[in-house]
Amino acid sequence: LNILLCGDFDAAQRQQWLDALQAALPEARWLDRAQALVEAATVQAAVVANPAPGSLQGLPKLRLIQSLWAGVEGLLADPTLPTEVPLARMVDPAMNAAMAETALWAVLSLHRGFFDNAAAQRAGVWRQQAQRPAGQVQVAVLGLGQMGAAAARRLHQQGYRVAGWHLHNSPAKVEGVALHRSENALAPLLAKSDIVINLLPLTAATRALLDARFFATMPPGSAIVNLARGAHVVDADLLAALDSGHLQHAVLDVFHHEPLPGGHRFWRHPRVTLLPHVAAQTDPHSAATAVAANVRALMQGAPLAHLVQRRRGY
Ligand code: NAP
Ligand code: GLV
Repeated sequence: LNILLCGDFDAAQRQQWLDALQAALPEARWLDRAQALVEAATVQAAVVANPAPGSLQGLPKLRLIQSLWAGVEGLLADPTLPTEVPLARMVDPAMNAAMAETALWAVLSLHRGFFDNAAAQRAGVWRQQAQRPAGQVQVAVLGLGQMGAAAARRLHQQGYRVAGWHLHNSPAKVEGVALHRSENALAPLLAKSDIVINLLPLTAATRALLDARFFATMPPGSAIVNLARGAHVVDADLLAALDSGHLQHAVLDVFHHEPLPGGHRFWRHPRVTLLPHVAAQTDPHSAATAVAANVRALMQGAPLAHLVQRRRGY
């Protein structure tokens, strides 16, 4: 069983993935792109992490593309991606748990003013703020899929008032979380939210969704947490909303260009807390288990899990 493993990892990361994948799927041989081209007629699956465009060309027997990333907008943007081969995205309970932790840290820090406390410490200022109970803080989670549902559940358990926004009829049911569906439901939800967390996939419908109109709909003094993709945000509009004080803070994990260029205003903006795209990293061990399950399903002719619906883009 020959499988192409390729992506934007360095040698050490590749070795870490190889170790985990070999342990989870000992019956497979893992080929790099050059080897895969030599043995092209034997390669049945490809396991990829943000591969360079064109990496999946020239493999006539390919029957599964398994992404190691949850978000697949980069793969779908590659015009050479074979259209007839099923594409599965990474769904990993360890990633969902990590995302829920990041969302909880961001919401707790915003609600309790801990980012302001850290800034006051740097300025040598003793400044106390009024506290309010979690049950008075309204949080909106945009996207109630794997990541959004895990975050919403964790926040509800922590006592926050949580509402979620999604698109189709069959969202994950999250106990205690009010569901809002359809485009029209977004503005009223934003208008009543103290904190908005973005966990949408990046698609034609969601690119640049977080723009001036979006921020203006949020109440004065509210905060935004973007844990999904940089291209969801119009940076200039977010900076304007922060500069004017309309938004009190932004927690940003993802950016248009990563690493975030040194001169970008987000780096030093007093109302921005940023992370280097670490909200939920793929864990090689649990992800390898998910890969092995899908490859074995392929071999047995069983249904493949977590297939991307290319038409809708996630
Ligand atoms: P998912 O399970 O596919 O969930 C996507 C959710 O978004 C679903 O609830 C879906 O609604 C909703 N949605 C999609 N398009 C929408 C639209 N136009 N309007 C309203 N709702 C819409 O995806 P996931 O696994 O939770 O991952 C979400 C994103 O998180 C990924 O695409 C990736 O960009 C990002 N991510 C970031 C990190 C990080 O470290 N920062 C790590 C992993 C993932 P329906 O179900 O109703 O269709
Ligand atoms: C990370 O951002 C992912 O999509 O897995």
